Formats: sequence, structure tokens, C-alpha cells
Amino acid sequence: MSEIDSAPYRIAAQPYYRPVGNEVDLYTAAYAARMPMMLKGPTGCGKSRFVEYMAWKLKRPLITVACNEDMTAADLIGRFLLDINGTTWRDGPLTLAARMGAICYLDEVVEARQDTVVVIHSLTDHRRTLPLEKKGEVVEAHPDFQVVISYNPGYQSLTKDLKPSTRQRFGAMVFDFPNPDVETEIVAHEAGVDSITAVKLVEVAQRSRNLRGHGLDEGISTRLLVYAGRLIAMGIPPADACRTALVRPLTDDPDMQDTLDAAVDTFFG
Ligand SMILES: Nc1ncnc2c1ncn2[C@@H]1O[C@H](COP(=O)(O)OP(=O)(O)OP(=O)(O)O)[C@@H](O)[C@H]1O
Ligand SMILES: [Mg+2]
Repeated sequence: MSEIDSAPYRIAAQPYYRPVGNEVDLYTAAYAARMPMMLKGPTGCGKSRFVEYMAWKLKRPLITVACNEDMTAADLIGRFLLDINGTTWRDGPLTLAARMGAICYLDEVVEARQDTVVVIHSLTDHRRTLPLEKKGEVVEAHPDFQVVISYNPGYQSLTKDLKPSTRQRFGAMVFDFPNPDVETEIVAHEAGVDSITAVKLVEVAQRSRNLRGHGLDEGISTRLLVYAGRLIAMGIPPADACRTALVRPLTDDPDMQDTLDAAVDTFFG
């Protein structure tokens, strides 16, 4: 088997990632043990950024798959394609990652059907192999290969869950929004706003997070704070920026919008 070109999957520049706890050490150890990992946490709290950072730090290529309910096992593993030469096998992202020794990141894994997700089982236990039944080949995973999955445990229905046999192949790291000082630093850095503005944005987010379960499924994420900060950095009046990037995306409920607009005016009015 010839070497696979991993260049397209290498992260060239260091991604900005502000550690929040001991997650870098923990992940480094998990990777050294080639332990499959699951990252749980609310939307926009830094899971994907963390994986990009770790792939860069560990000098591994990163292959990301955004999972959805229409995804089939073949979408992960690969399939025969018809072309002028007849049929050729095309590796799917999971197979490619296993051959290459990449970190394979299955984002929003609970969106995929459970019978699709089971194809990762033989790669995420002692076997570290992937049978390509249609092709009649068993791929031995490269020693550097690792699977990482992520999902948001918040708004997942009973029909969208991982099987116990999938769960128990992974170590788990729980992510959440960082403490206000750290989140302020992240927002200031990512959006290019001063720290006074960033402090206020984080305050608004915290108000919204207190409304979780009281009319909101999720509070304002770090991602949205960065969006709002970028609008402010471009000269949009802060109250308008917050309505556009924080409040309106979050909810369609007019009462809830009023509540959040009032919180915005408290800090930026
Ligand atoms: N610890 C952090 N260091 C640096 N940037 C961060 C951090 N946490 C959040 N961010 C910022 O928040 C944005 C959103 O984070 P990210 O895309 O990683 O979220 P996510 O947890 O993967 O969300 P989703 O579940 O919706 O995919 C990033 O683009 C980055 O700007
Ligand atoms: Mg993500």
C-alpha cells in the first residue's frame, strides 16, 4: 500500500485555543493511549476548536465528518464508483483516516443513525481494524489513528442517543462555557474588541444562560459572542450588534427576545 498524502488534512497554522482546565494534558494522554474520545458540551463552546488545536499540537492530520441522519455506513467507509475504467473503490473518510493515521472527528455523532455508527466499533476497541466487506479487505488502522466524537447532550431526543456498546468504547471529556474571565479573553481575542466590551458581552451571555430551562433550550454561546464582537469591531452600535448576533438567533419567542433585549440594554444601553 503506497503512502497516502496527508497534506490536505494537516493544520498548517496554530489554531487559537485558550485552555480552560486540564483538557490539553488529558487529551494528550488519551491520544498517547490511543483511547477513542467523546467530547460533550453545548453548541459553540469550543469543542471543534479544541480538536483542531490538538491535531495541530500532536502533528496529526484531521479528518472531520459532520454526521447527519441520512448518513450511511458507506458514506463513512467508502463505496465502489462507476467510471470509464469500470468500477473503482473510493475510501470514505473513516477508512482514509484509518489508513493515514489521522484523527477522525465525527461531529454531532448522535445525528447519525445507530446502525451507521456501529461501523466504528471495530476501530474503537482492541481490534483497530475496519472490514470493507464489499471490497473484501480488512484495513488495519495506522498506529497513529484515533477516533473522536462530539455531541451536545442538551437537546437530544430518546431516539437520538448512542448505544451503550458505542458509549463504552470511549473516554469522555465534558466541555462547557469557560468562566467569565477566560471567556472574556477569548471573545476579546477572537473578535478584536477591547476587554470592557468583551466583559459586557459575557455578562449578557450569562443572563441568557440563567434562562436555560425557563424558556430557552440553550444560552448564548461563545461563538455568538464572537459574532457580536466582530460586528462591534466593525463599527456597528453594540446594542444593534447584540440584537443581530445574540438575541435574534437564539429564540423566536417575542417575550424572550424582550427579556434578552433588556439585558443587552442594561450593559450597552
Ligand atoms: N477555549 C477556546 N479557545 C479559543 N476559542 C474558543 C474557545 N472556546 C470557544 N471559542 C470560540 O468559540 C467558537 C465556537 O467554538 P467551536 O466551533 O469549537 O464550538 P463547538 O463546541 O464545536 O460547537 P458545535 O457543537 O456547535 O459544533 C470558536 O470559533 C472560537 O472562536
Ligand atoms: Mg463543532
